[in-house]
Order: sequence, then structure tokens, then C-alpha cells
Amino acid sequence: MQWDLENATKGFAAAIYLVLFTALSTLLSHGIVAASPTYNVANYGATGSGVNDDTQAFVKAWEDTCGDSGAQGTPTLVVPGGKKFQLSPVSFKGPCKSTSIIVQIDGTLVAPSSLSGWKGCPDSWLVFQDVANLNVHGSGQVDGRGSLWWGRAQALFFQHCINLVLSGLHHINSPRNHIAISGCDGGTISNLQITAPETSTNTDGIDIANTKHLDIHDLICDTGDDRIAINGQTSYINITRVSCGPGHGISIGSLGAHGAHDTVEEVQVRNCNFKGSTNGARIKTWQGGSGYAKSIVFDNITLNAVDNPIIIDQFYSIKAAQENTASSVVVSDVTYTNFQGTSASDQAIILNCSGVGCSKITLENIDITSSTPGKTVTASCENAHGSATSTTPPIPCLLR
Ligand SMILES: *[C@@H]1O[C@H](CO)[C@@H](O)[C@H](O)[C@H]1NC(C)=O
Ligand SMILES: *[C@@H]1O[C@H](CO)[C@@H](O)[C@H](O)[C@H]1NC(C)=O
Ligand SMILES: *[C@@H]1O[C@H](CO)[C@@H](O)[C@H](O)[C@H]1NC(C)=O
Repeated sequence: MQWDLENATKGFAAAIYLVLFTALSTLLSHGIVAASPTYNVANYGATGSGVNDDTQAFVKAWEDTCGDSGAQGTPTLVVPGGKKFQLSPVSFKGPCKSTSIIVQIDGTLVAPSSLSGWKGCPDSWLVFQDVANLNVHGSGQVDGRGSLWWGRAQALFFQHCINLVLSGLHHINSPRNHIAISGCDGGTISNLQITAPETSTNTDGIDIANTKHLDIHDLICDTGDDRIAINGQTSYINITRVSCGPGHGISIGSLGAHGAHDTVEEVQVRNCNFKGSTNGARIKTWQGGSGYAKSIVFDNITLNAVDNPIIIDQFYSIKAAQENTASSVVVSDVTYTNFQGTSASDQAIILNCSGVGCSKITLENIDITSSTPGKTVTASCENAHGSATSTTPPIPCLLR
């Protein structure tokens, strides 16, 4: 009796489950119940005309997205494809109620077309601040329309984000750097295309400061300045499969500017391509600063007519009054392996360290020739200590 009752109960439960499941699937497939709550800016009055200012619609959609508890799934702010949304400088601030937030951008976000749209000279165009587990993705475009005011504002700024995910988008024409990340911990930035004219100034691709544990991979950037700049108080950054040109390459620093105490450690740059850029793998520090840059790896780098393929410059900015013995950000434990390609300048390798010196600089399996057939390239050093194995050009100046 007991046995039968149990079986019957199970069968009944299974039947109910099946009915509910079928009903839910039907509702889902008809869009009656959303898999997770979505907040489409078009439902908040955004026109997507590319001419009207759609900022307020985005602000309202963000308030609802950020205010959603997440009980029904990850709240998603949707920017639909096929349309262009003009936005004035605006901040999307957390903390949000849900533990995670999705921002799906399939359309184009475009900055104001005249200076009057940049009221109050903001430092950034679009800011995401204090949002944990923020996932910004889509097939859309972020167009800073920067040509009128290069240098004035950065396009997309992520501040105090934990576990940020940014992927898929095409970032173009930022007035300054395209993407800035500061005060963040954890995250992945991948599959982006970043484009700005070569003649633009200070349009870094990605500017990172005060951040740890970031995995950056599969980017294509052709911007006017540094492609990726790693600034102070930053650690555990991996950069893989980034293809750049033209511009300034991947830079650690500048560190120690105006006497600053800056620290950078545990950075790995692998499988990257530099083409026609002024620098490849660069570490730059100012005289008079303090702190360190250490445990840095550049591995498997392909160079095509790069001006300074490998450069450590501890004299990035030097005042006449400052002596070589002035304090400096200490550079140590930097490894360059498997570099291959061509240098556009005669000095393919520059290890220019201040009186404090650079230590444990390791170069191995380097093959850099001149991009001008028949020309030879050289290496120069100042106060650099470490070892060089299988390098072209040879680096006899490296001190043990
Ligand atoms: C960086 O790569 C190393 C392996 O080389 C891995 O152990 C580490 O977790 C990675 N860090 C990030 C932040 O992706
Ligand atoms: C070196 O990097 C290139 C991309 O620039 C990649 O195709 C290749 O597989 C990498 N080699 C190794 C040994 O990882
Ligand atoms: C190092 O930099 C200083 C200041 O820019 C410059 O005068 C010097 O020639 C450089 N030395 C080397 C070896 O590149």
C-alpha cells in the first residue's frame, strides 16, 4: 500500500511538472514571460534617430535595470540594433539591486555632434560606476565622434567595477582614450575592435589604472596613441592576441609622473602583433618618482616596421635640474622572449635606465632586423642588468 502511494505521488508530481514545463515553454516562446527582465531603451522613448538626444531614455531604462532585484534573472538593458542613439555625457551608476547586470548594445551609440552637447566639460562621455558583475556586450558600435575635440574626453569609463565583462563591440573615434578602467577588480575584455585615425592625439585604446586581475584578449586596435596603457597600482593583467598598428604599442606607464609612487606587477603580454607603431613593448617612467614595475613578461611578439620594438625609458620626462641619481620607479624582472620581425629605426632595443638601474632584464630568442633591406640595427643600454640569449641584434651592453 505504502509502495503504491509513493509511486502514485511521484507520477502525479511528474505530470504536474510536465504540464507546468510545457506551459512555461509556450509562454517563453511567445515572449509572454521573459527569460530575464529586459529594459529596452526604445520603450523609454529613445528615438534612435541619431539626431535627437536620447540620454533621458537611457537614464530611465538604466534606473529600472539597476533597480531590478534580479529575482527573475539578470536584468538586461537593451540597445536595439539598426538604430543610432545620440547620447550626451552620462553616468550609469550602481550599486545595483541585482548581483549582476547585462547591457546589450546592438545599435550605435553616438556622441553629440556639436560642442554644445558636451556641457560642463566632462572628463568622460559614458561612465559605468560601482556596478558589480557588469556584462557589456553586443554587435553594436560606440562612436565618440571625436574629430572635433581630440583630447577632451574619454569615451567609455568603467570605475570601481568588480568582474567586468566587455566584449564584441566596435569602438570608434573617441575624443581621447576609447576605454578607461580604474579601480576595478577582475574582468575580461575581449573581441573588440578599436579604431581612430592615426593623426589623432592621445587616443589610447585602453587605459588601465588602479586595477587588478584583468584578462584582455583578441583585440584589433588601430588608434592614434598607445594601444594599451598600464598605469600605476595595477597588477595581474594578461594581454593576449592583441593586434595593433599604427600607434604607440603596449605601454607600462608612464609611471612616477610628478613624483608619484606607482606600482605595476604581474603583467603578461603574449602573442601580439605590432605594425608600423612607434613603440612595441614599452616601459616608461619619470625621473623623480618612486615605486616599481616588476614581474613583466612580453612573449611571442611579431613586429612589422616598429620604431622602438623593445624600449625601457626611465627618462620619459626629465627636468634639467634632476640628476641621474634622482629617485626613480624601480624596474626589475622583465622578460622578453620570442620577438620576431622588423624595426623601422636603427636602435631596435633600448634599455635606458637611470642611476637606480634596471635588474633581472632577460631577453631570449629575439630576432629583429631592419625594415630597410641591408641596414643593420643595434641595441643600447644604460644601467641595465640581466642576460641576453640568442638575440639579434646582439646586446653586449647588458651588464650582469
Ligand atoms: C594570466 O595567465 C596566467 C597563466 O599564464 C594565469 O595563471 C592567470 O590566472 C591569468 N590571469 C588572469 C587575470 O587572467
Ligand atoms: C604566437 O603568436 C601568434 C599570433 O601573433 C600566434 O598565431 C601563434 O600561435 C603564437 N605562437 C605560440 C607558440 O604561441
Ligand atoms: C637615455 O635617455 C637620455 C635622456 O633622454 C638620453 O640623453 C640618452 O642618450 C639615452 N641613452 C640611451 C642609451 O639610449
